[in-house]
Amino acid sequence: HTEFGQQILSNFLFNVCKLEKNWSMDNLVETMTAEFREKVGEDRVILALSGGVDSSVVAALGARAIGKQMTCVFVNHGLLRKGEPEQVEEVFTKQFDVDFIHVHAEDRYAELLAGVTEPEQKRRIIGTQFWKEFFAVAQQLETDGKPVKYLAQGTIYPDIIESGARKTGGKASTIKSHHNLIPFPDGVSFDLIEPLDHFFKDEVRELGLALGLPAHIVYRQPFPGPGLAIRIIGAVNKEKLEIQQNADAIVREELDAYNERLFEETGERNSEHSCWQYFAVLPDIKSVGVMGDERTYQRPIILRAVESSDAMTADWAKLPYEVLGKISSRIVAEVPGANRVCYDITPKPPSTIEWE
Ligand code: XMP
Repeated sequence: HTEFGQQILSNFLFNVCKLEKNWSMDNLVETMTAEFREKVGEDRVILALSGGVDSSVVAALGARAIGKQMTCVFVNHGLLRKGEPEQVEEVFTKQFDVDFIHVHAEDRYAELLAGVTEPEQKRRIIGTQFWKEFFAVAQQLETDGKPVKYLAQGTIYPDIIESGARKTGGKASTIKSHHNLIPFPDGVSFDLIEPLDHFFKDEVRELGLALGLPAHIVYRQPFPGPGLAIRIIGAVNKEKLEIQQNADAIVREELDAYNERLFEETGERNSEHSCWQYFAVLPDIKSVGVMGDERTYQRPIILRAVESSDAMTADWAKLPYEVLGKISSRIVAEVPGANRVCYDITPKPPSTIEWE
């Protein structure tokens, strides 16, 4: 994050220390594919596929290494972004040669989350139910007599650090309970395959490109496992979900276009000036506004847009006023139930990227 920081490090390593640049992502793909295949042998593998970059890269790697020996389970908790479940299904049924299962768990989640307001409790409920749904599928698969030996996971290095977990020797303190680290039910024992556990996000994207994943997946933003439940403050219900999803669709449309313009100008994605992650947050308050001659009493939308490369630290994006203005005017004009737009201008730390 220092000005010319990358260049200073590069000069030090390659000019001062005279290291050689002999590391390539292509070699890595070959090695990782071979390692995956060798580890698995003839055994069956299951993967929790969220449609995000991490699990998609593992799916692509698995498809390359073992094809239909791997089953990808997509648990739809009804808390995904607008249009997303359809997109995920399309990509992993039409473009990739894996066994894809879409679990429709929307109603079960809505019931479990009704009235729950505490963020960690929401996360726990969603995480616990997620693995219930997932393990039910695994059990169902095994009814054909062939056991599922391996569980492939898209865990990346920051997940491990931030969960204060195993590989750091428990030294990092728990900031949020990420769902990626699994609570195995009693008696269930898969061996884990976590090919990305030493990767930062930007490296995962590079690996995805080398594996031939389409750009819209590779540059897809990270999305929390608990989904929109942690971008909707307070209890989640259908009305709030709809407002959040509609506002979020506008945020993404406008900032996708903004990033595309930057890409055309600079020829670079994820440059220091483009936006790395952006979404709408729905706080649990209402405020007074005026529409025509009428008083309104509706919800504000909070825009969160950050620059980052690995989510460990982040800064709020210095978006041009006209981009902010367009997002604001579109949201209040197009999203029923929203009458105000605010911009979150806090870096991480001290804030986190998500609100819960
Ligand atoms: P925070 O809010 O901790 O987020 O600054 C860092 C990055 O992680 C994403 N995130 C999650 N990803 N499961 C995930 O897979 C989760 O529970 C989760 N919570 C946050 C967040 O979107 C950001 O990119």
